[in-house]
Amino acid sequence: MAILPKKRIYGGQLRVLSEAAISAKQRSAIEEPIAEAAEPGLPVSKEQQQAAAEIPPAGEAPSAGAAGSIQPPGPASGLDAIIADHQTIKDLFNRYDTAVTTQAKVAAARELVRHISRHASAEERTLYPLVREKHPQPNLAKMLYDRMVMDDQVNKQILDFLETHVPSGEAEWAVYDATLAKFRSLEEEHLATEEAEVIEPLRQVLDQAALTKLGRKWAAAFANAPTHPHPGGPSDAARARLLHPVVGLIDRMRDALTTESSSSAGGH
Ligand SMILES: [Fe+2]
Ligand SMILES: [Fe+2]
Repeated sequence: MAILPKKRIYGGQLRVLSEAAISAKQRSAIEEPIAEAAEPGLPVSKEQQQAAAEIPPAGEAPSAGAAGSIQPPGPASGLDAIIADHQTIKDLFNRYDTAVTTQAKVAAARELVRHISRHASAEERTLYPLVREKHPQPNLAKMLYDRMVMDDQVNKQILDFLETHVPSGEAEWAVYDATLAKFRSLEEEHLATEEAEVIEPLRQVLDQAALTKLGRKWAAAFANAPTHPHPGGPSDAARARLLHPVVGLIDRMRDALTTESSSSAGGH
């Protein structure tokens, strides 16, 4: 089994930045309603502006992104857009399970890891904060928020394993398939709980303006999200809002370099 080397982004300066983000000022902000909080004052790069500009308007069909990932549907309602993206995730699991060649399985696993990494980051910055502020059962909101964040942290560990291991031989594929099946079970339980305990209760209390606003924020967050799992990075809303757009930018730059070097290698 090949273990792909992976440079860890969270470390050094970003770790310091992460800790700074959770300083006293941010700690108090985290305990306050944060759904309406402005995005952190980091400069928006041209690349991020371009990514946001590529988001299809409401009602338009999903399109392939710059790096080939499936984009979420138009943000007519943020909750509906997230549920539609859950179906995309289920379709990607099916794509893996029905892949015939090992090359197709690896490609399906790569796309699955990439899509769920973006989905989770977008939710951590847009949907989960709404749980704490707007959930109709305030006594349950804190536990639900913590559960969603915990699920994402566990998932990032498994996604990292799936991304960095490339099996070869029957025995290794058996271990890899079993790991992916375990992840599918965990992820499908997360999606079902999220829809039943988070999304549908929020639908009861959010008006159309709030749903549209969530849709815009969700699509923008999906566009600038990290494209790889970062188990060492934050999943809580305050730090995720600060750091994920930066890490997403680094991920996409690395993706572009990888694509470029593989095409040059293929051209010789
Ligand atoms: Fe989620
Ligand atoms: Fe979700």
